[in-house]
This record gives sequence, C-alpha cells and structure tokens, in this order.
Amino acid sequence: MQQGLFITFEGIDGVGKTTQAVQLKKSLEVQGKEVLHTFEPGGTQLGQQIRALLLNPEHENIQSMTEILLYAADRAQHVYEVIRPALAEGKIVLCERYVDSSVAYQGYGLRLDINAIKDVNQWATGGLVPDLTIYFDADPLYSLAKTDGDRIEQRTIEYYNRVRNGFLEIAENEPERVIVISALGTRQEVADRVEQVLKGRLG
Ligand code: TYD
Repeated sequence: MQQGLFITFEGIDGVGKTTQAVQLKKSLEVQGKEVLHTFEPGGTQLGQQIRALLLNPEHENIQSMTEILLYAADRAQHVYEVIRPALAEGKIVLCERYVDSSVAYQGYGLRLDINAIKDVNQWATGGLVPDLTIYFDADPLYSLAKTDGDRIEQRTIEYYNRVRNGFLEIAENEPERVIVISALGTRQEVADRVEQVLKGRLG
C-alpha cells in the first residue's frame, strides 16, 4: 500500500499554526495532493472530551502524570483512528502538535522526566514519528498576547520560555526531522518560509 507523508506543526500558543496549516493544505491541494488537516489535543470525537478535561481552568488539581497520560491517550486515539488510516491511503497528514508538544510543555515546561514522556508516547503511537516537523518560533511575550487564557495558557512567562527552549533543543537534537522557522512577519511571509522548507526537504 502507498504510504502518505506525516508533517507536524509545532510551536507555543498563538504563533499561527492553524492559519499556516490551512494555507499549506490549500496550496498542496492546488498541486493535486490529498491532504488531511488535523490537530491535538482533540482530533477525534473521544479526543474532544479529553481536550475539554485538559483545558478547563477549573481543573486546577490535575496531577502532572495525569496530564501527560491524557495527552498520550488523546494521541493514541488520534493516531489509530485518524492519522494511520490517512497515511495508509497515501494522504499528506498535516497535524498541529504531536509528541514534541508533550516533550516541550510537560517535559521542559513542567520539568518532568523527558525520557519517560518519550517512552509513554512511543507506546501510545506505536512508534509513529513525523517525516517532517516545522517548529514556528516566537518569543512567548509576542505570541501569548493572542491567546484566550485556557488552563495551560494561564501558566507563567518563565514556563513558556522553558517550553520554547525545549522546542529549540528538540530541533537541535533532531535537525533531520525538525526545521525551525520564525513565526514573525506577515501571514504570507511565514507561508513562504513553510513552502521553502517543503521544497527543500521534499522536492
Ligand atoms: P492548542 O489547541 O494547539 O493551542 P493553541 O492553538 O493555542 O496553540 O493546544 C492546547 C494546549 O495544549 C496548548 O496550550 C498546548 C497544550 N499541549 C500540551 O501541553 N501538551 C501536548 O502534548 C499537547 C498536544 C498540547
């Protein structure tokens, strides 16, 4: 069976991942490609309920381990219900957030065991790794101004700086998979950067 292409978009809240994913989907479709645009947490019906649990500001006492496992549970459902079937059909899957978000937000951000988070997620996804990850980089002071303050977004700027550094470290450790681009500039300027990366990496 023909295998598709798995591309993930990563970055802290408010950097414009959704806008860019919508634009890239359109541009790939114009080239005749079949594209599935999806996201985490909440890319399945069951995942929508997990998302609501995770982001509800009333859930102040969610334990760190619970938080890691809920993101991994959402991901397992998403991988097996949505992502793997689309890849098996030869589609390009554009996914906003994936394992790197758990490593950056829970691992680096909350200072939890990064290897344990990687292991849990390796199990949850059956080892599915993106072919390409684009990390949209911006200073949290800039990007957080655009968010609405859900449970995660209520964390401090120091927390978000650790998350950002986490993403940058992931990219440094896996330069073949993860490409860093600046999230600053107009929507079109950022979209041009994304297109450049795709051309460079995938032809
Ligand atoms: P998302 O809906 O992508 O937020 P945004 O559109 O603002 O970027 O993600 C919701 C929140 O969940 C976001 O604050 C990041 C957080 N998150 C984690 O902490 N760990 C994870 O593994 C994932 C997938 C998301």
